[in-house]
Amino acid sequence: MCGIIGYAGSGNAGEIIYDGLLKLEYRGYDSAGIAVLDGGKCAIVKSAGRVKKLNTSAQLLGGSIGIGHTRWATHGKPDDVNAHPHVCGKIAVVHNGEIENYAELKKSLMDGGDKFLSQTDSEVIPHLINKFYCGDLLEAVIKCASMLKGSYALLAIREGSGEIVAAKNRSPVILGLGENCNFCASDEPALAGKCPRICVLEDGDFAVITKDSATVYNSKKQKINRAVLPNSAKEQSLSLGGYPHYMIKELWEAPAAVKNTVTAFGEVKNAVCSAICGADKIIFTGCGTAYHAALLGKRYFAELAGIPAEAEYAGELRYDKLYAGKNTCLIAVTQSGETADTVEAAILCKKSGATIAAVTNSPHSAITRTADITVPVCAGAEICVAATKSYSAQIAALLSAALALSQNTGLAEELSNAPALISQTLQNLDIYALAEMCARARGVYFMGRGIDYAVALEGSLKLKEVSYIAGGGYPSGELKHGPLALIDGSTLSIFIITDAALSQKSMEAVEQTLSRGGMVAVITTLPHVHKRFERRAEVVTLPECNKYIAPLAAASALQFLAYRVAVILNRDPDKPRNLAKSVTVE
Ligand code: G6P
Repeated sequence: MCGIIGYAGSGNAGEIIYDGLLKLEYRGYDSAGIAVLDGGKCAIVKSAGRVKKLNTSAQLLGGSIGIGHTRWATHGKPDDVNAHPHVCGKIAVVHNGEIENYAELKKSLMDGGDKFLSQTDSEVIPHLINKFYCGDLLEAVIKCASMLKGSYALLAIREGSGEIVAAKNRSPVILGLGENCNFCASDEPALAGKCPRICVLEDGDFAVITKDSATVYNSKKQKINRAVLPNSAKEQSLSLGGYPHYMIKELWEAPAAVKNTVTAFGEVKNAVCSAICGADKIIFTGCGTAYHAALLGKRYFAELAGIPAEAEYAGELRYDKLYAGKNTCLIAVTQSGETADTVEAAILCKKSGATIAAVTNSPHSAITRTADITVPVCAGAEICVAATKSYSAQIAALLSAALALSQNTGLAEELSNAPALISQTLQNLDIYALAEMCARARGVYFMGRGIDYAVALEGSLKLKEVSYIAGGGYPSGELKHGPLALIDGSTLSIFIITDAALSQKSMEAVEQTLSRGGMVAVITTLPHVHKRFERRAEVVTLPECNKYIAPLAAASALQFLAYRVAVILNRDPDKPRNLAKSVTVE
C-alpha cells in the first residue's frame, strides 16, 4: 500500500530511486514520483500511471540524495497533482499510510494562510514540517508526527540539507545500510542488491539518513539502537527469469515454497506445540487469500488435532466484541505481515490475553513484533499482487502445525510429498478449454463442500482479482438457497470435489446445475467423479491424494486457471486494477 524509498549516497539518486520504485510497485501503481536535492535545490518529477512513466525524466535528475513514492490512492484520485512527493516551501515529503485527522489539520493550516494543491491526506505533512522548521529537520518532523493521528511511514527532505528524515507509525520502514550510501524503504525488495545490511524501525522511531550515517532516534531526539540484520532480499528472485508474468513464475515456485516451509516448520515444531496446546480455543484470522488459508487452518486444527477452531476475517475480528481470552490462541495468517486489519486484530486479541501465533512470509514484519511465536512461511519474495505460492506455503505451514499437534505421521509423510504432487498437477494440467469457458462466461461461480468450499472461495477470489469477471464462491449445499437463480447458459459453475465422503452430495449439486442449463465444470481428484461427468461437463482431473493435501493441488490448478483467463482477456495478472499487495491502511 504505497511504496516509499529514500537514498543518500554519491550515485545518481534519480536512477537509484527509480529502480527501487520498480521493485516496490506491487505496493501500489496508480502514480509515482521522485524528489532529489540537486545543488541544494529540490527537483521533482511525478506522474499518474505506472513507475515506468518516470523512466526518462528520472534519468535526467541530477543529485545524489532523494526520495520516491509509488501510490495506491486513498484520498484523492490517482492523477499528477495527487501523486507524491508533496511540497511546502523547501520541504518535500513522501508518505505511506493514512492521516485520520488530516481534515482538521488542513483546515487549521488553511486558516493560517497555507494553500493546498492536492486532495490527499498526505499534503498536510510537508505543511506541518515547514511550519515547525527552525533549522533542524528532525525536530520539525518529530513535532509534525506528534500532531498526526493514523498510520505513516514518511520521508522528508529539505532544500539546502544533505539528509533524509524518516518517521514511522503502523506502516513499515526499514533502513538499508551500504558502503558510502544509505537507504530507507517500505520493504526489503526495494533494497535487493543495493546494501548488505538492514535495520527495521519500530513504531515511534525516527531516523536521519545521510551518505555516511543512518541514525535512529526516539521522539525525545535521543539516539536509540535497533538490531542490524543481513539484507536477505535477492535481486535474482525479483526478476521474471524468462516468464512473461510474475504470476506464472511464482505459481511454478509453489513446490519449492511448500518444501521449504515444511522443512522450516521442523525447527519451530516444539515451540509451536507448546504455545498452542494449552489453548482451549483457536481463532484463525487473515484477509483476502490469507483468510482463505485461515479457513483451511480451522478445518485442519478441528478435524486433525481435535481443537475447537474458528476463522474470522481480520477486518471483522478487530471490531468484534472480543471473545478472545487468556486460553485463546489467535493464529494470524499474513503473507506481508503488514496488513493493517490483521495486525490490529492481533494487537487487540493480545490485549485480551490471547497467545498470538503469526504465520507469515515476512520475518521482520509488524505481525512478528506482536506475535508470541512465528510459524515461518518460506515462499520467498512474491511480487504478483494476487497471492499464489504464498497461499500454498501457508496451507503447508498450517497443515504441518495441525499434524504436529495430532501426531499424525502418515499424513505428515504425504505432506512431505506434496511438492512433487503440485509439480505433477501443473505439468499435467489440461485447463485451456475451461479457461476459454471462463473468459466467455457472464459470471463464474465456484462451489465446494467442507475443505473444498474453502478452496472454492480462493478460486473465485483469484479469478475475480486477475480477470475482473464477476462471480462468487458458495458451499455446494447453499446452491438451492439462492445461487441457482443466477444459473443460465451464460454462467459457469465450477465444482471442486476432492473429499470422497462428501462427493455424493456434491455430485447432486452438479446435477441440479446441469439440469438448469448452466455451463458446468468439475475439478476433482476422484476417479468416480471424473467418470460420472466426463461427457456432460468440462472435467479437470487432478492427481489422486488425501483430502487434506488436495487443496495444494486444487490451489495450483485454480491459480493457473485464473492466470490463463487473465492472459486470454489481455489483463495484467501481476497488477490488477485498483488493488495492491500489502494493505497497510484500513
Ligand atoms: C491484499 C492482496 C491479497 C492478499 C491480502 C492479504 O488484498 O492483494 O493478495 O491476500 O492483501 O495480504 P497479507 O499480506 O496479509 O497476506
